Amino acid sequence: MIYFDNAATSWPKPPGVAEAMVHFLNEVGANPGRAAHRRAVASGRIVYDAREAVAGLFGAPDPLRVAFGPNVTEALNLALRGLLHPGDHVVTSSMEHNAMMRPLRVLEGQGIELTVVRCSPQGILDPGDVEAAIRRDTRLVALNHASNVVGTLLPVAEVGAICRRRDLLLLVDAAQTAGAYPIDVQADGIDLLAFTGHKSLGGPMGTGGLIVGARVDVARMEPLVRGGTGSNSEHEAQPDFLPDAFESGTLNTVGLAGLAVSVRWVMERGVEGIRAHEVALARQLIHGLSHIDGVTVYGTLDAELQTATVSFNIAGMAPSEVGLRLDEEHGIMCRVGLHCAPAAHKTIGTFPDGTVRFGLSAFSTREEVEAALVAVGELARETH
Ligand code: ALA
Repeated sequence: MIYFDNAATSWPKPPGVAEAMVHFLNEVGANPGRAAHRRAVASGRIVYDAREAVAGLFGAPDPLRVAFGPNVTEALNLALRGLLHPGDHVVTSSMEHNAMMRPLRVLEGQGIELTVVRCSPQGILDPGDVEAAIRRDTRLVALNHASNVVGTLLPVAEVGAICRRRDLLLLVDAAQTAGAYPIDVQADGIDLLAFTGHKSLGGPMGTGGLIVGARVDVARMEPLVRGGTGSNSEHEAQPDFLPDAFESGTLNTVGLAGLAVSVRWVMERGVEGIRAHEVALARQLIHGLSHIDGVTVYGTLDAELQTATVSFNIAGMAPSEVGLRLDEEHGIMCRVGLHCAPAAHKTIGTFPDGTVRFGLSAFSTREEVEAALVAVGELARETH
């Protein structure tokens, strides 16, 4: 069995994640921040530990500016809906996932102006094109850090520097890079970092959030959801301080118990080390696939310029058939089709059929890549 669907969600999880979740359910269980009894305090400590771990990993100076939520999609919706008003202009790229594109398209219908900067067919974004798209009414630049289709890294630090110079905010969708590629929100000039816990951070599904930088005026940012926070309970107005402003309702504390452990595991192993491991595997995979007759590999074809997510097609065989046969005949699990990112597939020229995508992780091995190359080679020989 080879699990190559890590770009959708990572598996396996680091050691200790499941145990921390079971411990929370069996031994802690209480609602964090809602009472002063010992179990509630223990629960609150777990949440704060997760906050500290996430802030530490991304170089965020204040753990209280990490607002947890269920996933990166909601974090992106919060940032976009919370910051943009009719008359504002926003710049994004043509490589975005629907988690970015769909809320932006709805906002476009509500009086927000949108410029989608075209990337190359390899998914490369020229920071100069972003700068050229900036106007006097531009409020935000919103980009993914790496494509979920071809893994191509976008130049967020360069765009971050442009945004600082032009006094704009930068929102980054780190769904594909958090835990797999070094991110320092301060050095990279990222004002809002939307992250998911269940991919390269190694945590469970249902965890994610938004890191809100010091340049963002929280009092002027609308929450997506309002409700109980355990704080300021005498008021019917939502608190305007972080994280409570954006954390209404009971948190996924069992998930955060797992996330705290997984993020610490990522920090102990080191993102640089994980990155080096994944670059080596991506290089092996890209090289091997490129040498199989009938296989087209998409993206930059340079492991240093992308994550360990590689998209390809076999001429004469639909991606869906390739995916099914890899699973049934070779025990390889991957994701095929459009990967919820039609804009990216249009950019690389694979819309509407899509591609076959192998998403590797810190736990993937050279032997698995070798076996996958043999399997793809066998399928490709049928059509060539
Ligand atoms: N966005 C995730 C993926 O690319 C689910 O598969």
